[in-house]
Amino acid sequence: MGSPRKIIIDTDPGQDDAAAIMLALGSPEEIEVLGITTVAGNVPLARTSTNARIICEFAGRPDVKVYAGAERPLKRKPISAEHVHGATGLDGPPLFEPTMPLQDQNGVDFIIETLRREPKGTVTLCTLGPLTNVALALTRAPDIAASIREIVLMGGAYFEVGNITPTAEFNIYVDPEAAEIVFKSGVPLVMLTLDVTHKVLTLKARIESIRSLGTRAAVALAQMLDFFERFDIEKYGSDGGPLHDPTVIAYLLKPELFAGRDCNVEIEVNSELTLGMTVIDWWRVTDRPKNAKVLKDVDAQGFFDLLTERVGRL
Ligand code: BDR
Ligand code: CA
Repeated sequence: MGSPRKIIIDTDPGQDDAAAIMLALGSPEEIEVLGITTVAGNVPLARTSTNARIICEFAGRPDVKVYAGAERPLKRKPISAEHVHGATGLDGPPLFEPTMPLQDQNGVDFIIETLRREPKGTVTLCTLGPLTNVALALTRAPDIAASIREIVLMGGAYFEVGNITPTAEFNIYVDPEAAEIVFKSGVPLVMLTLDVTHKVLTLKARIESIRSLGTRAAVALAQMLDFFERFDIEKYGSDGGPLHDPTVIAYLLKPELFAGRDCNVEIEVNSELTLGMTVIDWWRVTDRPKNAKVLKDVDAQGFFDLLTERVGRL
């Protein structure tokens, strides 16, 4: 095996963000987390920055560097999702004040500096929240676009269409102008859409497999998932909630679990009705250039086996 793949995780934790961070930290042979940058999303920035550090401490990794990024979307008022994630964004396990520090450097500056320092084409950005930080970095330092290996993002949908509005997925909807900048940047993009994440459901047996690992990280994650799934179970009438964000990290570890196709993707930024819609040319009915790999299918049990095994290593 070669050296681990270098990533920056940009996140708005979020219980499913926690699962993603734990999956990455539990996979040090394949993934090196250069840093975690936080963004306003599921809850305000101060809380996502606290939550990211709580997750690292649950994972036994207080050495990971966490940087706070943007406090609000580029042009719009912040929108949060306490109705899904609870007042803290990380409801479920007993929470605490983290002892590890928040870094002084701003998250956007960290992204720019890291991409300029590391060899070209070696750093992957994994985004689990609104794309504000990445858009700010690309706008302030356009030279970094050529240095990014890939942006692997949780966001958007085609067949599932939307979750926060009838036509938009939360991460794109919160900051559609940021998403537009990213999708027009020319950087290689991989999208983990709702079409994938709605196939990976937190079934009871899957949560119990995680809980039965018995470690601090695993028990905390199981408690988070207990809380997280209740909203979606009621909303969708399913046996479990979709587990969105860890699909990003699972894709890096085992791309063979996923299937999709290269498409043109444009972001709706003008219409009030369909704001934040990812207009995906899945059926290739236009000649617009392909700018993203859009993932649609997943081996759900393979994904949960991977998540459980890696969380068990923490
Ligand atoms: C996305 O929105 C957030 O609530 C989740 O953490 C995930 O990143 C799903 O639409
Ligand atoms: Ca998220």
